[in-house]
Amino acid sequence: MKLFIDSANLTEIDEALQRGFPRGITTNPSILSREERGDFREHLKRIIGVIEKYGYDIPLSVEVFSTRPEEMVAQAEDFVRHLGHYPQLNIKVPIGWDELAVIRELRRRDIKVNCTCCMSYNQAIMAALAGANYVSLFFGRIKDLGYDAAHVVRQVRQTFRERNWPVEIIVGSIRHIMDVNEALQAGADIVTVPPGFFKQMTQHPKTDEAVKQFVGDFSKWLGRSS
Ligand code: E4P
Repeated sequence: MKLFIDSANLTEIDEALQRGFPRGITTNPSILSREERGDFREHLKRIIGVIEKYGYDIPLSVEVFSTRPEEMVAQAEDFVRHLGHYPQLNIKVPIGWDELAVIRELRRRDIKVNCTCCMSYNQAIMAALAGANYVSLFFGRIKDLGYDAAHVVRQVRQTFRERNWPVEIIVGSIRHIMDVNEALQAGADIVTVPPGFFKQMTQHPKTDEAVKQFVGDFSKWLGRSS
């Protein structure tokens, strides 16, 4: 069970990494487009810099930004050329008929692939069979259409486990803390979470109440005001 950071923001990534819990980072073109406009390869290098500053060795996913298969392969190669010094680089390729050939080609070149934008059991199975190292199921977007996203995760989990396939399930498209909990309980190997939720995941009003009481009681006993 792992949590990834779903962000390309250097401050958010830094704040999460310094707290020790993240096991990877995922980005996509929309997430990158929220950062200051500039050379995206340099920005991705800066993300690697933050990872290395804290001594982590964790996967970083970057996504191709074309819909044409031959351009996807070229973009993946370009990412590897500029960022390949980081051994845990993964290239995200969306699921699709022509995209399966992209996945196969990248794996043939020994490039790790995270097959993204999967909304269904059959898409996840096809991605795994084509050789993806990770399949990303989009929890929130599956629910948008009225489907049971946890059920999809459970089905994929069951098949991967029964066949012993070495593919990890990433659940993304998180909209609520409950999505994180449900995805983990349904068998996701990884949930990639927008950083805004992490702090909330540590908080509870009864925790605040308990801590305040403990500190207050002991301060009174010490004869100090807290
Ligand atoms: C996962 O890797 C994606 O970056 C992400 O979670 C996309 O989700 P959203 O666009 O539905 O928020």
